[in-house]
Amino acid sequence: MKKLVITYSHSGSCRFVAEKMAEAMGADLVEIKPKKELKGVLAYIVGGFQAIHKKTPEILPLGKDPKDYDLIVIGTPVWASNFAPPIRTFLVNAGLKGKKIALFCCYGGQAGKTFDEMKKLLEGNEIVGEIGFKLPLKQKEENEKKAKEFAKAL
Ligand SMILES: Cc1cc2nc3c(=O)[nH]c(=O)nc-3n(C[C@H](O)[C@H](O)[C@H](O)COP(=O)(O)O)c2cc1C
Repeated sequence: MKKLVITYSHSGSCRFVAEKMAEAMGADLVEIKPKKELKGVLAYIVGGFQAIHKKTPEILPLGKDPKDYDLIVIGTPVWASNFAPPIRTFLVNAGLKGKKIALFCCYGGQAGKTFDEMKKLLEGNEIVGEIGFKLPLKQKEENEKKAKEFAKAL
């Protein structure tokens, strides 16, 4: 079974989790990069606006085709209680169907409606797991273990 971990990460939390998961499950890893990376306070203002209004900012080519994979883990930071806009662009463009999909998110407070909203764009796929990480870079060892255990069980 071909496995892919794909994430967007603005400040490194989801990157950390994605790397640990990919390592544990022997998966390829892709990090989604927006064409225009939001810096500093703009991330909160513009990023928050984009998340609330369900915008799809342009992203750079992924370099891998998710359609080639059977199991795909998708990771996102929580923005305005939802998933991050570059992930929305990915989900809208990818048109995934018939895949096994696992979801993870990183947040500062709570996951909010992140997973429910992602699942709306993933109809026609089988959701095989979901897990949230609260500021994983603050407790790296514990969260590395949590990420690896989740990934291995998929
Ligand atoms: C624009 C923006 C909005 C955010 N909104 C929320 C939120 O609604 N709830 C929450 O728990 N954390 C929120 N956060 C915090 C991030 O989810 C948290 O720092 C996460 O670990 C970031 O992941 P990353 O380092 O992979 O980008 C927000 C961060 C940003 C930049």
